[in-house]
Amino acid sequence: MIEIRDLVFSYRLREGGHLVALNRISLQISEGESVAIIGSNGSGKSTLALCLNGLLLPREGEVWVDGLDVRQRSSLEKVRRRVGMVFQNPDNQIISTTVEREIAFGLENLALPEERLRERVEETLQQFHLTGFRHRPPHLLSGGEKQRLSIAAVLAMRPKYLILDEPTSLLDPVGRREVGELLRRLRAQGGVTVVHITQFPEEAAEAQRVLVLHDGELVMEGSPREIFAQGERLARLGLRPPFPVELANRIRKAGVHLPEHIDDMGELAAGLLALPQCQIDFTGEPDGGKERNGREGSPSMSKGEERVRTEDLCYRYNAGLPTERMALRQVNLSVRRGELIGLVGPIGSGKSTLVQHLNALLRPSSGRVLVDGWDLSDKRLDLQNLRQKVGLVFQFPEKQLFEETVFDDVAFGPRNLRLSDYEVDRRVRQALKLVGLDVESFAARSPFDLSGGEQRRVAIAGVLALQPEMLILDEPFVGLDPRGCEQILGILGQLRRKGVTIVLITHHMDLMVPLADRVVVMGEGAVAADDSPEGVFSDSARTAQLGIELPQAAQLTARLREGGWRLEATVLTMEGVLEEILGYLAANREKEE
Ligand SMILES: Nc1ncnc2c1ncn2[C@@H]1O[C@H](COP(=O)(O)OP(=O)(O)OP(=O)(O)O)[C@@H](O)[C@H]1O
Ligand SMILES: [Mg+2]
Repeated sequence: MIEIRDLVFSYRLREGGHLVALNRISLQISEGESVAIIGSNGSGKSTLALCLNGLLLPREGEVWVDGLDVRQRSSLEKVRRRVGMVFQNPDNQIISTTVEREIAFGLENLALPEERLRERVEETLQQFHLTGFRHRPPHLLSGGEKQRLSIAAVLAMRPKYLILDEPTSLLDPVGRREVGELLRRLRAQGGVTVVHITQFPEEAAEAQRVLVLHDGELVMEGSPREIFAQGERLARLGLRPPFPVELANRIRKAGVHLPEHIDDMGELAAGLLALPQCQIDFTGEPDGGKERNGREGSPSMSKGEERVRTEDLCYRYNAGLPTERMALRQVNLSVRRGELIGLVGPIGSGKSTLVQHLNALLRPSSGRVLVDGWDLSDKRLDLQNLRQKVGLVFQFPEKQLFEETVFDDVAFGPRNLRLSDYEVDRRVRQALKLVGLDVESFAARSPFDLSGGEQRRVAIAGVLALQPEMLILDEPFVGLDPRGCEQILGILGQLRRKGVTIVLITHHMDLMVPLADRVVVMGEGAVAADDSPEGVFSDSARTAQLGIELPQAAQLTARLREGGWRLEATVLTMEGVLEEILGYLAANREKEE
C-alpha cells in the first residue's frame, strides 16, 4: 500500500522564494487498485507522481510505500524498485540501441543472475508483443510502440506500482488505443497497481478510482461515475466529463428519460435506441443534410484572396542517402485569407513536413511554394519578413523556450522586430493573458521550472506576441487541460475573425471541427482528401480508410444509424448532435400522436 499523510511539497524558485505545489495531501493507494489522477495544468499531478517514488521528497508530511518511509535514505532504493515510472515522452526515457537491450538495461541494475535476466527479457518481449522488434533500434518504432517499450522496460523490473504521467498525450489515436489496451490488460490481470495521470477523461473513466487535484490540493475523490456526474463542479475546475457522459446529461436536461448510468458511447447509443419513441418506423422526409453543427466555420463563407499555394510540392528527407525518404509527393494545396484549415492524417503522413515549407524552414525538392504570390525559392525573398508574417508553433514548442524568464521568452520575438519597450510590454502581457497565464505570477518565473502545460502555453504566447498574419499550429492541444484547449480555440476564432489565416494540425478532431472551414487529410505524403468537415466525415468507412478518427458526435450518429435511426445530417459537434437527437425524438413523438 502507498500511504500519504499531510504531504506538502514546495519548489524552490530560481528567482527566489518557494512555490507550494502540493498542499496537505492525504491518500492511500491499495495494492492491485487502479487509480487515475486528473487536474488542470499546474495542479500538481506530476509533482505528486514524483513524490510517490522518492524522486521528490516531502517538505512536510509522510509518504510510505509498503511500510517504507521515502524520507529515509536507506529505503529509497527499495522504494524505487517498487514504484516504476513512465513519463509522457518515451524519447526521454529510452536510452538503449535495441529493444532487447532497453529491457535488459533496468534489469541489470537489479543484479539478477545472468540466467534469470535472460529469462526475464524473453518473458517481457513476449508479454508485450515485442519479440519481432527485439533487434530493432527503438527510434525506428512508432510512438505507440515506443511507449509500449518504455512500459515494458519498467514492468520487467516487476514493480508493484506503476505510475504513468500522461503516457498517451504525444501519441496519435492508433498509439493511444494501443497503450489503452495494454493498460486494460494490466488492470484485468491485477498484478500491478496502476496510477494513471491523464488529461483524457475517457481514459480516467477506466480506472476504479479518480483523484482530482486543484492548486496542489486533493479536491475530489471517488469512482469515475461519482466524479464525472459532477459536470458543473468539474467545469469550475477547468475539467470535463467524457463526451458521452456530458451529452447524456444534456439530453436528460432536455427532458428525455435516459437510464441513470451512462458511462460510455456504447451505453449512450443503447440508451437512446431503447427509447420507446424510436421503435416506430420513421418514414417522413429526411432532413436533407441540414447544417446542424453549431460550427463557426462554414464552407460557404466567402473568403479572401489566395495566400498560400503549393504546386506539385515534393520533399525528400536525406536526399541521395540510403535513408532517403519521400515525405511529400506532389502536394497541391491552396489556402485563402481568413480560412482555418484543419490539417489531419495518420502519423508520418507529412503534415509537419508540409507546414515547414510555408515559412521556408524546409525548401522543396521539386515544385513550388507561394505565399502572397511570392515564390519562396526566390533569392530576393526577405526571410525575416516571411517568418514574421507566418507564425509557426512547433509540435514541441516547449523545446523552443530558452530565456531566463517567461516574460523575456515571450518578448524575444517582438524585441527582434525592434518594437518599442512599451509595445513589447503590451504585447507580452496581452499574449500571456490570451493563453490563460496570470502575468503577475508568471512573468518573472523561469520557463524551465513550469509544469508541462504551462510551458506549452508560454511557447504559444511567444508566437502570438508576433501578431502573425498567418498562424500554423502543429498539435497545440497536447498536454493542455480542457480549459486550456478552449482558450486556444477561442483565440483561433478571434484571430480568424480578424482575417488571420490559420492552419491547425491535430489528431483532436473534436476540437478542430467546430472551427474548421476545410479539412485537408494527408496520406503517405499526398493530399488524400480536401473538403468541408461535413464532406470529410460524412462517410465513416472512408474516414477509416484515411486513417483518421471520427469526431465523437459522428461516432454516436453512426451507431444510432446502425441501430435504425434515420438521421440524415452529418453532425460533428456536441451541440449539433444534441439538436439532431432532440429533433429526431420530437419528430417521432409527433408521428406517434
Ligand atoms: N521544477 C520546478 N520548479 C519550480 N516550480 C515547478 C517546477 N515544476 C513544477 N513547478 C510548479 O509546481 C506546480 C505543479 O506543477 P506540476 O508539474 O506538478 O503540475 P501538473 O499538474 O503536472 O501540470 P501539467 O498538467 O501542466 O503537467 C505548478 O505551479 C508549476 O509551475
Ligand atoms: Mg504534469
